[in-house]
Amino acid sequence: MTPLDLSGKRVAVLYTSVEESLAGVDARMRETMDLAVNARVITDALNRVGLPARFFTFPRDVVTLADAFRSFGADAVYNLSECPHNSAQKEPHAAAFLELLRLPYTGNGPMPLAVCNNKALAKRVLSAHGLPTPGFRLYSSVPEEASGLSFPAIVKPAKEDGSAGITEESVVEDETRLKERVAHVIERYNQEAIVEEFVGGREFNVAVLGNGTAEDPYRTLPPAELVYRNARWRVCSFESKWDPAHPSYAEIAPECPARIPESLRARLTELTIECARVFGLCGYARVDFRTDGNGRLFVLEVNPNPDISADAGLSRAARAGGLSYEALLLEILRLGLARGAR
Ligand SMILES: Nc1ncnc2c1ncn2[C@@H]1O[C@H](COP(=O)(O)OP(=O)(O)O)[C@@H](O)[C@H]1O
Ligand SMILES: [Mg+2]
Repeated sequence: MTPLDLSGKRVAVLYTSVEESLAGVDARMRETMDLAVNARVITDALNRVGLPARFFTFPRDVVTLADAFRSFGADAVYNLSECPHNSAQKEPHAAAFLELLRLPYTGNGPMPLAVCNNKALAKRVLSAHGLPTPGFRLYSSVPEEASGLSFPAIVKPAKEDGSAGITEESVVEDETRLKERVAHVIERYNQEAIVEEFVGGREFNVAVLGNGTAEDPYRTLPPAELVYRNARWRVCSFESKWDPAHPSYAEIAPECPARIPESLRARLTELTIECARVFGLCGYARVDFRTDGNGRLFVLEVNPNPDISADAGLSRAARAGGLSYEALLLEILRLGLARGAR
């Protein structure tokens, strides 16, 4: 760990307002999804430990943002941006903008944000490095025949996040249902559909902190398991993540640290650190896994900008690893500052 003096650092907490993108979302889910709430909590936590922090909404006109940072005298940016200009695909642009302003910022840079937002591209990178990930096909139109994949399969939008577009109906058992679902995803989400072999065993996720440098090597937090308490659920769907009123919300529950044998813990740690190296991760991230019927682990995805609200998986894993929420927030800031202007 680099000894780094955080005292007096002026921190701009930057978030993207999701008001527009949440317009179609049920009111009861909006609060848990709203990054503004998160930005305020983080700003307050930084203020409590004596850091002058203020939160900023990502505006339509970025020139005004550059000016606002300058008048605030920002030394660093706590980057919580997920969808600048209401586009998840512009998530990397926020980090790139901060680099061009030569301001140190928290979390991952544009490259992993861009690559991991594209599920097919990220899986190709994983495979190229020999990391196990479920086999897949990418479709921009409904295929004549879905060759080469075994059933069951899962059909997802290729460039979404937060389980958008993922329900129990995403899991398909035959070719007819696969085609119907591919058509649905392409039409509803206006993007390609990725079809993956369904790996339906236990589900885990592992958070990683660090910059992959000699001073700040990667270190994992205790693995968590998403425990499926009821056999009727097969996937961590949109509802199970965000809708407390939906039965799956209580029936798919995270448990951290996961109750797993040491060998499985060691393998999860090894694969997570390998993912961090392959994507050049920086600051913090979370890797999602599932096992097949033989207990073999597969990487489902790498999340370079995971939720760090107080009740999110990453904060839970930090607590299990002996880091309070405030200590986690400060460590993420320290890692960002240790990288300096990028
Ligand atoms: N290939 C797969 N096999 C089994 N379950 C999957 C697979 N892909 C996704 N899932 C399920 O769907 C959830 C969300 O999928 P994921 O690809 O992580 O999307 P998101 O980026 O929206 O989180 C996972 O947490 C898991 O429960
Ligand atoms: Mg996921």
